[in-house]
Amino acid sequence: MEFDTVIHGGTLVTASETARGDIGIRDGRIVALAERLDGGNRRIDAGNRLVMPGGIEAHAHIAQESSSGIMGADDYLSGSISAAFGGNSSFIPFAAQHRGQSIDDVIATYDARAARSVIDYSYHLIVTDPSAEVLEDQLPRAFQRGITSFKVFMTYDMMNIGDGGMLDILTVARAHGVITMVHAENNDMIKWMNARLAKAGLTEPRYHAISRPELAEEEAINRAVSLAKLVDAPLFIVHVSTAGGAAIVQRERLAGTRLFAETCPQYLALTREALDRPGMEGAKFVCSPPLRDAETQDALWSHVRAGTFDSVSSDHAPYRYDETGKFMNGRDIPYPRIANGMPGIAARLPYLFSEGVVGGHLSLQDFVALGSSNAARIFGMTKKGGLAPGKDADIAIWNPEATRTMTLAGQHDSMDYTPFEGMELTGVPEVVMNRGAVIVEHGELRATEGQGQFVARAPHALRGPGHRVKELDPARNFGARIAPE
Ligand code: URP
Ligand code: ZN
Ligand code: ZN
Ligand code: ZN
Repeated sequence: MEFDTVIHGGTLVTASETARGDIGIRDGRIVALAERLDGGNRRIDAGNRLVMPGGIEAHAHIAQESSSGIMGADDYLSGSISAAFGGNSSFIPFAAQHRGQSIDDVIATYDARAARSVIDYSYHLIVTDPSAEVLEDQLPRAFQRGITSFKVFMTYDMMNIGDGGMLDILTVARAHGVITMVHAENNDMIKWMNARLAKAGLTEPRYHAISRPELAEEEAINRAVSLAKLVDAPLFIVHVSTAGGAAIVQRERLAGTRLFAETCPQYLALTREALDRPGMEGAKFVCSPPLRDAETQDALWSHVRAGTFDSVSSDHAPYRYDETGKFMNGRDIPYPRIANGMPGIAARLPYLFSEGVVGGHLSLQDFVALGSSNAARIFGMTKKGGLAPGKDADIAIWNPEATRTMTLAGQHDSMDYTPFEGMELTGVPEVVMNRGAVIVEHGELRATEGQGQFVARAPHALRGPGHRVKELDPARNFGARIAPE
């Protein structure tokens, strides 16, 4: 058999197995796995290395305006390059609808932006305006195109769609076999806290964490799960930051609810004390949900180990520490006006490998599952996330023993800081491939702008009418709106 590339001598690691062997690649796909393969126009020596499915970043904000109109620092070129240096072969950023905008228009906008990507991509739609046309025509058209997931917000005045809107959208998702992701924080609790903190003159960055209590997340997760159960729709809770939220996820999964969840490195690695840094330095650590305390970190790590989370995602939301980003609304501003989010797309997998695998929390199988395979399975990237013949040759070759210190330059993004500065990490993705092409090799970029391709994703397995409200004929009521106009 002829191969374009053979990766030989490495330890192959998937979400289910570890074995010594070689991989043969042709036309961008894995075509052979064997103890030894000869030939190959190119042979990559993977001796003493781990050969794993390339990472899939399932939560990143790339070339996306925030709800208040601030464009993130990374476009699809810099964002995908940073992802590649972090061991990712593909990602699923958001394509965000602004109220009044058609979904077709949103997709066209992001198609133009994403054309620069060096890794494969798809989008999760962010739906902020679930009008009848959106629910009945536009979303189904997007699903047909292979965009089979979307995110909705329970917080932010410009984004949240209310409980009725969520039921509408979950019903459409259930009917079409797509998955709803939710940012779960109670909007009114946060606004109530904001008003009282403002009245007391408590406006420094540290009050950001105080304004968004753990209860706000826990209440909203519980409510989101209840809404999803009412219409029997699968649900994915993004960026879980609390022990209470994780416990709800764990309990509901045990009870048979079709529920998925992720947490993020920042909630595992950092604490809210970072917000206390002098001056406005704390602004670098303003993200939502906010950083929590050390006790929560330990609890979240226990849940990562126990399998409560399907993935660990970066929530890369890059706002520079300057007037284009964090301080778009001015330098001397109260915390609610600081742009929310922090970067981390290049740090996600190295952190997870170092703290998780080297630190003794996770097996190599867990690492592949949390960083790649589960996202492929849940979000319908059927050709990715594994090393089987027929899969895309999306591969990351890791040196498990190399050590380095996290620096801004090492992130290869468009940011002017990294929240992970100075962390000592073990394990480096030395060679990263996307569909058989080497895109990163020993610290050098080998990709060309635009070589990434759109991935049409498969629907989620659960499809067709839900069964909870038998008196409502689901076949006639898909898309029926119950939310007030
Ligand atoms: O603070 C964050 N995470 N900003 C990004 C938007 C979001 O809610 O994921
Ligand atoms: Zn060799
Ligand atoms: Zn969010
Ligand atoms: Zn996010």
